[in-house]
Amino acid sequence: MKISRRDFVKTGSIFSGGLILNSALPQNLFPKSLIEGKKPIVLSTWAPNIKANEKAIEILLNDKSSLDAIEEGIKVTEADPNDHSVGYGGLPDAEGIVTLDASIMDWNGNAGSVAFLQNIMHPISVARMVMEKTSHVMLAGEGAKKFALQNGFKEENLLTEEAKQSWLNWKQTQNKNENHDTIGMLAIDNFGNMSGGVSTSGLAFKLHGRVGDSPIIGAAMFVDNEVGGAVATGNGEFVMRTLGAFLIVEKMREGLSSQKACEFAIERIYKTHKDLSNMNVSYLALSKTGELGAYSLKSGFTYCYTTQKENKSYTSDFLMK
Ligand code: GLY
Repeated sequence: MKISRRDFVKTGSIFSGGLILNSALPQNLFPKSLIEGKKPIVLSTWAPNIKANEKAIEILLNDKSSLDAIEEGIKVTEADPNDHSVGYGGLPDAEGIVTLDASIMDWNGNAGSVAFLQNIMHPISVARMVMEKTSHVMLAGEGAKKFALQNGFKEENLLTEEAKQSWLNWKQTQNKNENHDTIGMLAIDNFGNMSGGVSTSGLAFKLHGRVGDSPIIGAAMFVDNEVGGAVATGNGEFVMRTLGAFLIVEKMREGLSSQKACEFAIERIYKTHKDLSNMNVSYLALSKTGELGAYSLKSGFTYCYTTQKENKSYTSDFLMK
């Protein structure tokens, strides 16, 4: 992960609708328009993903579905070589191989995912194809790649020179790296339907074969159109052990606000793990009515919130102060 990602304090640019505002990041301030519940809405992890949100809102403003917005929005980050934790340019595993995880879910409860996918630029699109073209939910490894190639995706080298150099440096120093900044995105379209998606190259320099929380439906991402959705970023092992996104949505179903539900899931991680060093987990949630929740175990988590009127990034509150 590049330091600049967490140091990011200014928000994006004007997009074609001409409605985007720039501003410095206020601390822990929720956007007003969320309270009004305006749709369409796009919410994503990490401030630099503001460009992904711009793409997603553009699609939603053209009355396309939240599923289209999720796929096209996440594709922006997957194709960005400067993002070292998602898709092209992602940091490789311990053997120098880039392996990708992604999942997607729509408002009807349909879900698709890919795990340990290699040499395919857009795992989120393959995940969608698994969902739409097969009777399965998850494809992994060689099988996922074969499926992608059979369906028109092309094989590409995803290891950039910069990522390769980082790996070579890591091989010499074996320094622990906290690179795990998954893009997780939730969107509500003009028809009131919610979809969600996540995509990542996972933990940098992980053991070859390691799969994180992103392709596990209910871990890094879950959507229930009657209640809302949630996405996770951070060390996937902690999210998987507590099935964070599903937990958040179920707590919302029980009546907790999106914010309280995120706090509940972070507290669950805090209570159930003795060693919380060298790790972090952060959650976003969006209720059916557009109410936002954002919470992190530790400091530094930023997220992007986008509507027709604004496209801004915010800094989340956190537990371990
Ligand atoms: N959350 C991404 C990962 O741990 O793989």
